[in-house]
Amino acid sequence: MAKTYSRYICQECGHVFARPMGRCTHCGAWNSVVEERVAPPSGAGPAAARPAGVSTPRRLTDIEAADEARLPLTMGEFARVLGGGIVPGSIVLIGGDPGIGKSTLLLQLAVEVARSGLVLYVSGEESERQIKMRAVRLLSPADGSNPAEAEAAMPDGLLLVTETNLETILEHVQQTRPGLLIVDSIQTTYMQGLESSAGSVTQVRECASRLRELAKSGSMAVFLIGHVTKEGNIAGPRVLEHIVDTVLYLEGDRFQTYRLLRSVKNRFGATSEVGVFEMRERGMVEVTNPSEAFLAERMVNTPGSAIAVTMEGTRPILVEIQGLTSPTNFGNPRRTSNGLDPNRLLLLAAVLTRRAGLRLGEHDIFANVVGGFKISEPAADLAAAAAIVSSYRDVALRADTVLIGEVGLSGELRMVGQMPARLQEAVKLGFKTAIVPRRIRRGEPWPKNLEVIEVRTLHQALERALVAEKASEG
Ligand code: TYD
Ligand code: MG
Repeated sequence: MAKTYSRYICQECGHVFARPMGRCTHCGAWNSVVEERVAPPSGAGPAAARPAGVSTPRRLTDIEAADEARLPLTMGEFARVLGGGIVPGSIVLIGGDPGIGKSTLLLQLAVEVARSGLVLYVSGEESERQIKMRAVRLLSPADGSNPAEAEAAMPDGLLLVTETNLETILEHVQQTRPGLLIVDSIQTTYMQGLESSAGSVTQVRECASRLRELAKSGSMAVFLIGHVTKEGNIAGPRVLEHIVDTVLYLEGDRFQTYRLLRSVKNRFGATSEVGVFEMRERGMVEVTNPSEAFLAERMVNTPGSAIAVTMEGTRPILVEIQGLTSPTNFGNPRRTSNGLDPNRLLLLAAVLTRRAGLRLGEHDIFANVVGGFKISEPAADLAAAAAIVSSYRDVALRADTVLIGEVGLSGELRMVGQMPARLQEAVKLGFKTAIVPRRIRRGEPWPKNLEVIEVRTLHQALERALVAEKASEG
């Protein structure tokens, strides 16, 4: 084998350095640069094995603009996130924490596609027996009465193999010619001839690149499963996200049943689209009306609960935000958030202290988004702030009211995007009132059957949202 040399790769951004670095000068991350031994590309190396592409420039006018042909899916939530179905020749990365349900979801996908085509499911994580047992579980009748039914429901077109060597995987693909290839996971796959170990930045990137070429050279779609690192990136390097067409994250709280499949990149559809699933005994079940599901366990007329309308891609979702304040026993007051950006919570606490006169400096604050949902947009500020104030004053918020708006540092409310869609969803779920920031320009009319209260400040919003204050009990 050719002489190897060392190079240093940032696990965050994939930037390559010639020498060790304490901090990546490219993306600024600390302690993210790791050493890798690599063999220089030789005649037999992976670079030489790449097929020479044959391409011909074509006139713009000769190219049909028709939509990509897609494999439709009966799992509508999955199809929605992909932008309408599986695009042949595309490569999709699906990432998420261990145990969140990636293998389960993709096995369900495999089973579905294998009813009409050929699917090759390559696992480097589990044995064929384990996967078979999972498939039996997924296909068993609901009451578990007749296990033979699961066997009868197995699709013909599903091939399983436990394999981690990329060359062998490529051979299997050559021989079987599947329409869909699933690789579980990209971290366990390795390529011979590279000095670094499986799961390293170089291996993950090279393997993904080869699989990408394979997808692009034909009509096979490839799904890669990737684990998320502590920092929340798939496989550490962002580079993997550049190699694939579509990046999906499966999120959720492992102790809750809801799972969100979110697209963060999609060459064939809208990004930040979400699909909602519930992890049940027999696999992932679609939740077609997430707002309803998220509000199902809500206790009305209890202090500390507010309803926000958050946009996930093009889809408005109503979620309950809970706030709890409690006097600090000792030391610094704590601010704990589950599902909300912690910095956003700090900001809201500061605004409430300075602009709404709450003595939060002596209180711990807990904020929680119900259902394991994560909110990243400021449109939920108002609901979060109202939930905290409601708990602090021990007064419930009006049960039939949604709160939408960004809170500014002076306690002013700022308009957020896609307000009509948000309000429509509130109407659909039977809400009667919405408290929103005052409009500067008249836009579309507000939906009928909804009282829309426009206010300028957080203070005014709270006055309208809180149920008449109880007589002070001292
Ligand atoms: P899995 O798909 O193995 O997660 P990942 O591939 O992301 O690591 O799912 C693991 C969890 O899901 C495991 O704790 C068991 C649970 N599970 C169900 O609740 N219902 C099911 O039908 C299946 C197959 C798994
Ligand atoms: Mg798995």
